[in-house]
Amino acid sequence: MKFFIDTADLAAIAEIKALGMCDGVTTNPSLMAQAGRRDTDALLREICDLVQGPVSGEVVATDAEGMIQEGVRLAKLSEHIVVKIPTTYAGLRAIAALSGRGIPVNATLVFSASQALLVAKAGAAYCSPFVGRLDDVSHDGIALVEQIVTIYDNYDLETEVIVASVRHPNHVVESALLGAHIATIPPKVIKQLVQHPLTDKGLASFLADWDRLQGK
Ligand code: E4P
Repeated sequence: MKFFIDTADLAAIAEIKALGMCDGVTTNPSLMAQAGRRDTDALLREICDLVQGPVSGEVVATDAEGMIQEGVRLAKLSEHIVVKIPTTYAGLRAIAALSGRGIPVNATLVFSASQALLVAKAGAAYCSPFVGRLDDVSHDGIALVEQIVTIYDNYDLETEVIVASVRHPNHVVESALLGAHIATIPPKVIKQLVQHPLTDKGLASFLADWDRLQGK
C-alpha cells in the first residue's frame, strides 16, 4: 500500500519522508490555507522537488473550461503534479479532457460508488473517496471503499483508489485489508500508526532491567 501525506506543510512532509513513509502528497485549498503560503504555485513546486512522486494540486475553478485551463497550468509546474478535480458533472468533462492530454487527474470529493465508476470511465488516474467525512454524517466510509475496490476489480479499471479524509489508524488498516492502493494520511495519523502502549511499557521495563544489571 502506498502512503501519501495529506498536507501542504513542507516541514511535516520532510519529517515523514525521512521515515520512508512518503510515496506522494495530496493538497487541497484548505490545506494550502493552513500552510499559510499565498504563493501556492511555488509551494507546490517545492513539495514536488522534495517528494519526487505524485503531488496533487487542486483547481479552484468550477466550470469545465476553467478547470481544464487551471489543470494545464498546474501540470506545467512539475512532472510530478497530479491535478485534483472535484467530482461534479463539469468535473467529469475536465477529467476526460485532462486525462486525454496525458495529465494525471485525482478525482476528489467522491462520496458514492456511482461517482467512482464515472471518474474511472472518464480516465482519472486516481479516485479519492472521503471516508472520514462520510463517517461524520453517519455513513460508512470504509464500506464505500469496499464497493469501489470491488467495482474497479470487476472491470480491471486502472484508476487507483486513494482513501482520503483519513481520521484515525483504523481507517488505514481497514483500507489495507480491502486492498485500496493508497491512503492519504495526515501527519498526526502517521504518528498514531506506530504507537502502542505495550511497546512503551515493554521498552520501559527492558530499560529498567538494564539499569538494574548495571547497578544503577
Ligand atoms: C485529500 O485528498 C483530501 O482533500 C483530504 O483527505 C480531506 O480530508 P478532510 O476531510 O480531513 O478535510
